[in-house]
Amino acid sequence: MFGLCQNGSLPIKINTIKKEIVLTANIIDGKKIAADIRKEIAEEVALLNKKVGVSPALAVVLVGEDPASAVYVRNKKRACEEIGIRSVSHDLSAENSEADLLKLIDSLNNDKEINGILVQLPLPKHISEAKVLEAIRPEKDVDCFHPVNVGLLSLNKAYLKPCTPAGVIELLDRSGIKIEGKDAVIIGRSNIVGKPAIQLLLQRNATVTVCHSKTKDIGEKCKKADIIVAAVGIAEFLKGNMVKEGAVIIDVGINRNAEGKLVGDVAFDEVSKVASYITPVPGGVGPMTIAMLMKNTLTAFKVQRGIKD
Ligand code: GUN
Repeated sequence: MFGLCQNGSLPIKINTIKKEIVLTANIIDGKKIAADIRKEIAEEVALLNKKVGVSPALAVVLVGEDPASAVYVRNKKRACEEIGIRSVSHDLSAENSEADLLKLIDSLNNDKEINGILVQLPLPKHISEAKVLEAIRPEKDVDCFHPVNVGLLSLNKAYLKPCTPAGVIELLDRSGIKIEGKDAVIIGRSNIVGKPAIQLLLQRNATVTVCHSKTKDIGEKCKKADIIVAAVGIAEFLKGNMVKEGAVIIDVGINRNAEGKLVGDVAFDEVSKVASYITPVPGGVGPMTIAMLMKNTLTAFKVQRGIKD
């Protein structure tokens, strides 16, 4: 193709061959970042133990035999052991009543040796999750699920932060990704991830859009985002053509695809060619949730004992 020079003299050649830019995203190594955080917590726990002669303690409550929950709980207890946090297991069979579980929570609430209480979700159908989560004393609510802590979070006054969204923020910070002023899209509005992620991203001065099952043109909204947090629970939902070149992609999903392979909410192979940063599944957000649970347990311990930073 030829264009005229401004003076109308010699034509110059304009290069119209568009180079196909194939970006390969930086992989955010959640496994490594979580290990760094656990090491930092372990150092602080050891120091505090020297100072006050006690270590933090986390009560881990599992009700029923859900295999995925059993794996999560085992990993949480393993992290406690590695860090020097005492974990106290309470494994209840699915036959236990709601009243049994509420009684256990009451005794853990009143046990001065217990700093954090974690009740693994989901609970069996005959037990009200809301009732159980509201029964946990807010100071011991290391999941940050209690309505008081959810309220404090929305007022930017929470000292216990919801583990998975807090893990997302840590991944961004420790990868040197600026949040302030960015357009962030969260896909999914769950109480555990989507809703608290709104608060944490907003507190960091991102402009936040939340997409859900009734959102029109999700692809269009995602395409405008600098940061996407995919927490929709649908295998490989976010495709390459829904992502802006250079966007940062955080994948909170853990799903099995049709072949039974563990995949996230992001079509990794496609999206990693467009994004600048991306978390893998497994090895992205997952380990961060546990690291942040450990951090909350340490924070709860310090607050309960009046230990200042
Ligand atoms: N089940 C799935 N995710 C979580 C979590 O973060 N905390 C608890 N308690 N249960 C869960």
